[in-house]
Amino acid sequence: MSLAHAGVEIAPLAEPSGADLSHIPGDDGLPFIGNTFRLLADPKGEVERLAERYGPVYRSRAFGLRIITLLGPEANEFVLFDRQKLFSSTQGWNPFLGKLFPRGLMLLDFDEHRIHRKALSVAFKTEPMRAYLAGLNASIAKGVAAWGAGEMLFYPAIKQLTLDLAATSFFGRELGPDMDALKRAFIDMVAASIAVVRVPLPGTLMARGVKGRKFMVEFLGREIEARRRAQGDDLFSQLCKASTDDGRLLSAQEIVDHMSFLMMAAHDTLTSSLTSFVWFLAAHPAWQTRLREEIAALGLSGGALPYERLDELPLTEMAFKESLRLIPPVPTIPRRTLRDAEFRGFKIPAGARVSVNPLYTHHMGEIWPEPEKFDPLRFTDANAQRRHKYAYVPYGGGAHMCLGLHFAYMQAKCFAVHFLSKVEATVAPGYAPTWQMWPIPKPRDGLKLKLRALS
Ligand code: HEM
Repeated sequence: MSLAHAGVEIAPLAEPSGADLSHIPGDDGLPFIGNTFRLLADPKGEVERLAERYGPVYRSRAFGLRIITLLGPEANEFVLFDRQKLFSSTQGWNPFLGKLFPRGLMLLDFDEHRIHRKALSVAFKTEPMRAYLAGLNASIAKGVAAWGAGEMLFYPAIKQLTLDLAATSFFGRELGPDMDALKRAFIDMVAASIAVVRVPLPGTLMARGVKGRKFMVEFLGREIEARRRAQGDDLFSQLCKASTDDGRLLSAQEIVDHMSFLMMAAHDTLTSSLTSFVWFLAAHPAWQTRLREEIAALGLSGGALPYERLDELPLTEMAFKESLRLIPPVPTIPRRTLRDAEFRGFKIPAGARVSVNPLYTHHMGEIWPEPEKFDPLRFTDANAQRRHKYAYVPYGGGAHMCLGLHFAYMQAKCFAVHFLSKVEATVAPGYAPTWQMWPIPKPRDGLKLKLRALS
């Protein structure tokens, strides 16, 4: 379905020129590269510098695009809630994800998006979630046991574990040796989605990514009929049986596109957030102890976290939320205006690329006192109610708000239960990793931890 079918009037979306945007404060940065390298080196610092200089609505140039950045909770609400259907998510994300994850849910707009989101939501209902959790419990217990005690680099280890977990909950166990090829294809696609060279020239990441996508399309396509007949409770099987409002099953191509996107959406965000979560707990041993006590108080027999008890870990949930505040896995969210818009008195012409910024919002001193301090109690119900609804946006908001957020909390809690029951994590005195914040935050040195086995 095109945008025209979605009932949205489409403007001819030429990129506005510098002159079209000259009424918006800002600058084009250096010739050719704009602000790209400064933004890559220190996204938070660069946005804060530009905001200080130009205010909460400014223009800049990065990644070959002119971008208007809108800062703060009101801007987040304006763009993400999008009352007037002014902003295209498809066209915002396309330059980054369109080649390798075309027609993933986040890359659909308006009516078409709503229809697909509803179809996909069956995979996140109670019964499938219960089944995913059973798989997560078993695989996380095994993964943490394999880490043992001693020094470790946490980031590569959790990246591998998260991939293994996705394999279980997304595909079930029946894939056998094909699973390794599928994981490889997926890794290549993700690497390509952020590659600098955007054409699939031989030997480039992009060429490997395109090959990975071809494999994924063929492989998943072959499996669909069998999954429709079987009783699998993995996510792929759910999608194979998912239908739209008018009773139509999703087509093979739609299922493949959604599965590829879901793997990407889940894998990198969970890897990043579990890394920052564990880093903050290692750096704040008193909080680590509080969470361990909360988990011990559940008195779980056999160590597995049952689905019914997910709500009994409020401190763990608050600590995870605080990690997402400090280091949001999606630091910026892009959109493109379909029609002329206006925000804070600035006209934003049709076709403009706009961006909102969870990373900046989550560090605004006027909303978050002592913003750099790790303080999970910011997320008590009373404290949360005092804030603007769009002051905390790690999962975005509005129509495209993360569909997997309950899955993310579930996996984080399940991980905390197994990890904190088995080991204590510490870091060397004075140690703090530096973070590469874009496109998805990760510690540059892999996060050096020391694990001590608990009796
Ligand atoms: C801590 C972990 C996660 C974070 C921080 C996160 C963040 C986000 C954000 C910011 C968006 C919205 C982007 C936009 O508006 O343009 C989003 C969308 C989405 N996420 Fe997540 N995500 C996480 C985990 C997951 C998981 C585990 C899954 C699947 C199992 C998932 C599936 C999706 C999907 C399908 C969308 C598109 C929703 C739509 O367009 O309607 N995410 N996520």
